[in-house]
Formats: sequence, C-alpha cells, structure tokens
Amino acid sequence: MAGTQTCVEHALAHYLPAADSIPQRLHDAMRYATLGGGKRVRPLLAFAAGELTSAPADRLAVVACAVEMIHAYSLVHDDLPCMDDDVLRRGRPTCHVEYDEPTALLVGDSLQTQAFELLATQPLGEPLRQLEMIALLAHASGSRGMAGGQAIDLASVGKPLEQAELELMHALKTGALIRAAVLLGALCGTPLSTDERQRLDRFAKRAGLLFQVVDDILDCTASTATLGKTAGKDEAADKPTYVALLGLDRARRYAEELRNDALDALSAFGTRAARLTELADFICHRQF
Ligand code: IPE
Ligand code: IPE
Ligand code: MG
Ligand code: MG
Ligand code: MG
Repeated sequence: MAGTQTCVEHALAHYLPAADSIPQRLHDAMRYATLGGGKRVRPLLAFAAGELTSAPADRLAVVACAVEMIHAYSLVHDDLPCMDDDVLRRGRPTCHVEYDEPTALLVGDSLQTQAFELLATQPLGEPLRQLEMIALLAHASGSRGMAGGQAIDLASVGKPLEQAELELMHALKTGALIRAAVLLGALCGTPLSTDERQRLDRFAKRAGLLFQVVDDILDCTASTATLGKTAGKDEAADKPTYVALLGLDRARRYAEELRNDALDALSAFGTRAARLTELADFICHRQF
C-alpha cells in the first residue's frame, strides 16, 4: 500500500502544473490542495482493481491521478464558506483560508479540467475505451454524480431524510467517484467479462457507500486531531447523515453489512482481489 501511495504522490507532483509557472499563486494553491496529505484511497482502489485485469502501472497512475484531482477539487469546494465552511483539512488550513476564496474556487475549476486533460492526453489503450473512461469520470463527477450529491446534501440541511434518500445522496456525493476509481482501474487492463464487470460494479457501489457511512461515523466519534478536519461538524450543521438517521450502533452495523456485501461481490475473483479485499477492510475499520 505504501509503495503505491508513494508512486501516486510522485505522479501527482509530476502531472500538476509547476508551482513556479504562471499564474504562480493558482498553481501553488493547486499543489497545496492536492499534495502532501490524504489517504489516497481512490488511487489505491484504482491500482487494486487494475490487479484484476493485469493493468500496466503507468496507465493506472494516470487514472489514479485524474480521480484524485477531482477528489481534491471536491474537497476544496466542499470546505468553502458557501458549502461546509471548514477551516481545517488534512491537518492544515483549508485552501480558501491559506489562500483566498476566489483562488480556492479557481483551484477547483482548474483541478477538474486538469483531470480530464490528463485522461485525454495520456495513452490508456484502445481509443474507444479511452473515450469510455473519460465519459465515465465526467458522469461520476457531474450533476448525476458527485456534484449532484453535494447539491442534495446542501438542500437537505435540517431535513430528516428517509434511508433511501440518504443512500442516494451518499451514493452520488462520495460513492460515484469511488466507483469510478475502481472501474477506471479495471479498464486500464484486459477487458473483464460482463459477469465480472457486474460483480466489480457491485463491489464498487458498496465500497463507495461504505466510505461515506464511515465518514459520518468518524465525524462524531473521532477527534479533530486524528481526522485532520473539524470533528462534530455534521451534527453542528444539522446535516443528514447515517448517524443522524440510524444512531451510532446501527450505523456501525450497517457499515459491517456493506463491507460483507462488498467482499461477497469479490469472491469469484479469488486471490486476484486480495488488494481490493484489504481496502474494503481498511475503508470499514479506518480511524481517520
Ligand atoms: C473525505 O474524503 C471526503 C469524503 C468524500 C467523505 P477522504 O477521507 O478520502 O479524504 P482524504 O483524501 O483522505 O483527505
Ligand atoms: C464530502 O462529504 C463529499 C465531497 C467532498 C464530495 P463531507 O462534507 O462529509 O466530507 P468531509 O467530512 O468534509 O471531508
Ligand atoms: Mg460536505
Ligand atoms: Mg465537508
Ligand atoms: Mg464528512
């Protein structure tokens, strides 16, 4: 896991614009928001899914960086005063606090387009498949994916949601990008059969939902120091979360169910899915 994280760190540093290139402040802020922090769960998932299809590492690094750039952009915007209004991220001041709001806005815009430039310009195999990959990430990031989930999140503050509504919100705001990381990783290698692709998709959807259920749990159980972001924000802001809906114990049990379901979807892959299995456990039992 550490080796892949180091490889992703280097690739991100390489694919981001140099800090001393014009406009320097924007490029510096893009690097600040992306480098030197973060668990890199989405890149790790892409690499682990790539093991199912014997995908080459250089292609995996490209898709891992593209997804991580979208993720970093989503965090910069998520922290803005007009969204969650957070001052701490990855143990450091949030982008708009360290720089300023207009810069943070442009960091998000620029990371997003950088991700697609990367996917469109690096060799990822057969051209039609590469187009499919670009479309997949676009769909997962936009109004029917992450951004749409964020819209539902903001519109739902102070409103108790039914479990199905909450599940849709989580599946979009966090699940979509995690699913994209898994599918893009697999698409870098030898095509899977339809049945295998469906199984992997089921794993990816369960893992994505699991990730946000655990994020909700940690928000109210972990400390600010451990999380590197302000703890207790969801309750203070009256956000719809799994903990608010089910209470802590049932939310934890639900997380275990999602983990088991995710692992069940991988069973047919045998040892090829060892790293995905490890990551599902990490996502479920992580402390930050
Ligand atoms: C936090 O994501 C935001 C959510 C989508 C829940 P991560 O917990 O992956 O954040 P980093 O990248 O490790 O900082
Ligand atoms: C963020 O969800 C999801 C995205 C950034 C798309 P949260 O608002 O719960 O994430 P944190 O807790 O601030 O990291
Ligand atoms: Mg949020
Ligand atoms: Mg937030
Ligand atoms: Mg959260």
